[in-house]
Amino acid sequence: MLQVLKLQKSYGAGNTIYPVLKGVSFTVMDGEFAAVMGSSGSGKTTLLNCISRYIPIDSGKVKLGDTDLSLLDETQIARVRSRELGFVFQDFLLLDGLTVRQNILLPAIIGNTISDAAEEQADHLCTIFGIEKICEKYPAEISGGEKQRTAVARALINHPQLILADEPTGNLDSKSARAVIDTFLQARDSLSATIFMVTHDSFAASFCDKVIILQDGLVWKELLRDGRERRAFQDELLNAIREMGR
Ligand SMILES: Nc1ncnc2c1ncn2[C@@H]1O[C@H](COP(=O)(O)OP(=O)(O)OP(=O)(O)O)[C@@H](O)[C@H]1O
Ligand SMILES: [Mg+2]
Repeated sequence: MLQVLKLQKSYGAGNTIYPVLKGVSFTVMDGEFAAVMGSSGSGKTTLLNCISRYIPIDSGKVKLGDTDLSLLDETQIARVRSRELGFVFQDFLLLDGLTVRQNILLPAIIGNTISDAAEEQADHLCTIFGIEKICEKYPAEISGGEKQRTAVARALINHPQLILADEPTGNLDSKSARAVIDTFLQARDSLSATIFMVTHDSFAASFCDKVIILQDGLVWKELLRDGRERRAFQDELLNAIREMGR
């Protein structure tokens, strides 16, 4: 479970301080697929970077399970990043010189968790995501959709407690965006993965269990899908975004 409590973060430039997060609190339950939305500049990437502690927070807490990430030293947080967190980036960032399978195993190599079990997990993920036939190919030789699935498989290799994704559908057409979302849904359903995804896109967000909307440095609204039809949830999201604009 991810718990963010009264998180505050400002950026300073000379004597000027720009508050971005002014006391953000929310929870993402284990096995939940959650999205965070908000206009450009509302602090979504800042929030992700605070959770993974790539940038220091001013105050508040970020708890992953029982661990308060804000209290860890650099060595401890590096270990959490490599073992407990999985990252999916907007442009996927696969390494061209490694095969699909090697790319998937990369976090296990970096996190020093490489083992027969990790190799088996890589094969298992390739099967789940339907990329087993291309796993010896290089990124330049595979399609965009296959790259996305490889990136999500890589984020899952160490059985992370949490996947963090910043605009993973941002550069994609709607069909490829749908494929990324399907991969996350599969990860949630067959591996009980917990996913926290930043998105601008109400279509992508409408597949989530929960959507957190940021405005003016705070959680403006939290919407739950609650088993509703996707279309109905998307309509609610669009209405909320319109209301926020007023
Ligand atoms: N390193 C930094 N130094 C100073 N200000 C920053 C820094 N990074 C971000 N900001 C500012 O903080 C605010 C929030 O930025 P952030 O990148 O978190 O927004 P975002 O919600 O991810 O936006 P987008 O949807 O455009 O990606 C913006 O006003 C931005 O200019
Ligand atoms: Mg951003």
